[in-house]
Amino acid sequence: MAMLELRNIDAGYGRIQILHDVTIDVSEGEVVCVIGPNGAGKSTTFKVIMGFINYLGGEIRFEGEDIVGKRPDQILGYGLGYVPQGRIVFNQMTVRENLEIGAYIERDAKKVKDAMDYVFTLFPRLEERQKQLGGTMSGGEQQMLAMGRALMTRPRMIMLDEPSLGLSPRFVTEIFNKILGLAKEGITIMVVEQNAARALEIADRGYVLELGRNRYEGTGQELLGNPDVRRMYLGG
Ligand SMILES: Nc1ncnc2c1ncn2[C@@H]1O[C@H](COP(=O)(O)OP(=O)(O)OP(=O)(O)O)[C@@H](O)[C@H]1O
Ligand SMILES: [Mg+2]
Repeated sequence: MAMLELRNIDAGYGRIQILHDVTIDVSEGEVVCVIGPNGAGKSTTFKVIMGFINYLGGEIRFEGEDIVGKRPDQILGYGLGYVPQGRIVFNQMTVRENLEIGAYIERDAKKVKDAMDYVFTLFPRLEERQKQLGGTMSGGEQQMLAMGRALMTRPRMIMLDEPSLGLSPRFVTEIFNKILGLAKEGITIMVVEQNAARALEIADRGYVLELGRNRYEGTGQELLGNPDVRRMYLGG
């Protein structure tokens, strides 16, 4: 049984339908990447899973539980974390305060402290910079902060939307290493990436979306070796 299961999802904004019949499975322990051109509906897929937008049909299950119609905070509570595109951090709050916000669904102060220690172990730089304002962190550091904040609820699965977007090559490598590190911790990962070749290299499986529909799927290696996928998404 898949940990996250999307079956024939239709979704959109208001009356505009963007996703058509999208089916994606993520099994426990997998790294699954989703690639596709701008506007393909990758971010929309995450938004419908989190309950942010208009759901029009299909099934969404997390660990067997139907999560259609649940609030985002309920979904976080089930153990599904989410880092939106654009590494949104609170500029005027310190790194530590940004992390505390990530744990807003947790009332137990001891659990919040344990989660903070856990995030600091994964991202030592956040511990060093915990008093620095979020807005003054570099782009790569802000991405780590956004990931750290999503990990404050100790999710069993995390969805990352474009984690390497706009980062320098050194930080891209660092972010990909962090993603692999999370996978080693046993966290199941679904990642949307522009950097398709890098993402497919670290992924167990991948999906290509186009115009809001499933286009290709396979193991990372299969997609890397598919001539059509190479030509369209990997620069030949
Ligand atoms: N709030 C919104 N209202 C109306 N349409 C939207 C909204 N957000 C996104 N869309 C439309 O939905 C479609 C899919 O957008 P989405 O952000 O899911 O694409 P994406 O695959 O994540 O693209 P990118 O690679 O550029 O991030 C686009 O045509 C976009 O214009
Ligand atoms: Mg997007």
